[in-house]
This record gives sequence, structure tokens and C-alpha cells, in this order.
Amino acid sequence: MASMERITLTPDLSLSRIVYGMWRLGDVDDTSPKAVQAKIEACLEQGITTMDQADIYGGYMAEEIMGAGLTQDIRDQIEVVTKCDILAPAGRHSDAPGKYYDTTRDHIVASVDHSLRLMGIDKIDVLLIHRPDPLMDHHETGAALDALVASGKIGAVGVSNFKLHDWTLLESAMASKLVTNQLEVSLSTHDALTNGDLAFLQERGVAPMAWSPLGGGALMTADTDLGRAMDAVAGDNGVDRAAVAVAWLLAHPASIMPVMGTNNISRIKGFSDAFNVKMTRQTWFKLYESALGHEVA
Ligand SMILES: NC(=O)c1ccc[n+]([C@@H]2O[C@H](COP(=O)([O-])OP(=O)(O)OC[C@H]3O[C@@H](n4cnc5c(N)ncnc54)[C@H](OP(=O)(O)O)[C@@H]3O)[C@@H](O)[C@H]2O)c1
Repeated sequence: MASMERITLTPDLSLSRIVYGMWRLGDVDDTSPKAVQAKIEACLEQGITTMDQADIYGGYMAEEIMGAGLTQDIRDQIEVVTKCDILAPAGRHSDAPGKYYDTTRDHIVASVDHSLRLMGIDKIDVLLIHRPDPLMDHHETGAALDALVASGKIGAVGVSNFKLHDWTLLESAMASKLVTNQLEVSLSTHDALTNGDLAFLQERGVAPMAWSPLGGGALMTADTDLGRAMDAVAGDNGVDRAAVAVAWLLAHPASIMPVMGTNNISRIKGFSDAFNVKMTRQTWFKLYESALGHEVA
């Protein structure tokens, strides 16, 4: 396995700096165990060991698709992140009347048990609350999460799409500390850089994860000033746009962990190219200004 920078979340847990996201794992014709193994192995060859899942991905099917491809040997080399709290009428929740969030104890515990069974594992390394739930009773949710840590079913707890007040509310009712916040951050969605989301985590010494780091693919095909600015940096560094978009995130001092979402093996094999981009302060700002559509003041 090649060496890859790692981010320490707790004394017992570190994640690879680049994470492989499995939201789209079921969106291809070949979802066989062999195809899943090929994707994970292409990650492992680069030292990318962290796999990002959610109960709801693929209509509550993506965890099972991944699980079918997990040999014990692969399981021993990876960290599994998954999420819960979004209910939508699909798969095992097809009788849900519509979309809603559920952070009750019963739902979280049942969701964790499903995730463990579907992935065929006995521990989730990090469980994230997927979206802030306006009806969250932080005492109930916090106690349920602490109990899951104590039981050994989950190694650590994090959140996703939380604002700082959502974070402090939940953490105030927990014995364990929240270990990460998975936020949308990219050259196309960069509010977190200025709205306090990243600053709050930096102040706490917590490394965020960045979802859709390529803007869900839109950044790769954009025929815009930003697209041309990325192409120029890519050309100078002998890499593609994806590497530039990821290098832009890696250069931020918050220790952002980009969560990559391609199903394409050759694109997976190129994830580490981001580390070969020379991202000077001037280049970073040139890309930022292209993303903003104007000069910084
Ligand atoms: N916490 C949350 O609320 C949340 C929300 C969304 C996502 N996520 C996580 O973040 C992960 C990544 O999200 P994402 O899939 O949107 O990330 P992304 O890496 O920004 O986008 C991936 C998409 O871009 C396409 N793409 C990549 N390279 C391309 C290229 N050179 N040309 C054209 N298209 C290209 C991929 O298609 P190909 O497969 O064809 O390469 C794929 O459809 C997810 O898997 C999930 O784990 C979390």
C-alpha cells in the first residue's frame, strides 16, 4: 500500500486524507462484488482506506452492495464511515409517507443494526448524523450515540451538514466528542470558507470532510472562467481538473478530507494526483477569484 497522509480523529482512529464516497456505488450496471473490490483495491493501492457510506445511499442498497464485496482481508484494511437519520420512501423504507429526519434513539439503533448487517461488519468506525434534525432531542440522541460507542457497535460519532450551533447542542449532551463534520465544500460551493463552518472546526481542532469536491462532476465539464483557470493549473502540473479541485481543498489549513465519488476505476487511480499539484497562495487565490466571479476586495 502506498503511503497516504492520515488524519487522526481519536487516539484509536485515523482516516486517510482522501476518502472514497459510495453514494453512487449502485448507479452502474456492474455492482458485483468483483467490481466493488476493484474500486476499493484501486483506493488501497494509494493508501486510501476510508470508505464513506450512508444507510440511504442507493435507496438503502449501497451498504449491501459494498458489503457483498468486503472480504475479511479488505475489511481489515479499511475504515467504514456511514450515516443515518434521513428517511425517504425507498427500499426498506418504501412505506415512508415522504422525506423526513429521525434522530430518536430507536431509529438510530435500528439503523446502525441494519448497516452492520448489510455491510457484514461488527463495527462502524464512524457514524455520522446525516443532516441536522429540527426535532432532535439532544439528550435522547446524545445518550443513544454514547451507548452505541460504549457497546462497541460504533467507534466514534460525527455529523454532516451541521451548523456550529447544531454541533454544540448535540455535543453538550454527549460523553464522547464529535470527531468530524462532513460538509459540502468545493470550488463550486465554498460558503463554508467564509460563513464560519470551517473556522469553527479549525478552532476546535476537528478535521472536516468535504462532500462533492468536484461539484458532483459539474466542475469537470464546466466551460467557464473557472474551468479554464483549473485547466491552466492542470496543464502546468501535468494532472487533470479533478486533481486541481482537490488540491485546492487540501491547501486549506482546516485539514479537509475530500470525499471523492467517481465509479470510474481510472479516475479512482488518479485520486493521489492531487498531492502533485503545486498550489501556491497565488494559484489558490486565482482559482478562488475565478470561482467567485470577481477579484477579492
Ligand atoms: N453528507 C452528505 O450530505 C453528502 C451529500 C452528497 C455526497 N456525499 C458523499 O460525498 C461523496 C462524493 O460526492 P459526489 O459523488 O457528488 O462527488 P464528486 O467527486 O464531486 O462527483 C462525482 C461525480 O463526478 C463525476 N466525475 C468525476 N470525474 C469526472 C470527469 N473527469 N468528467 C466528468 N464527470 C466526472 C463522476 O462520474 P463518474 O462516476 O462517471 O466518474 C460522479 O458522477 C458521495 O459518494 C458521498 O459519500 C455526502
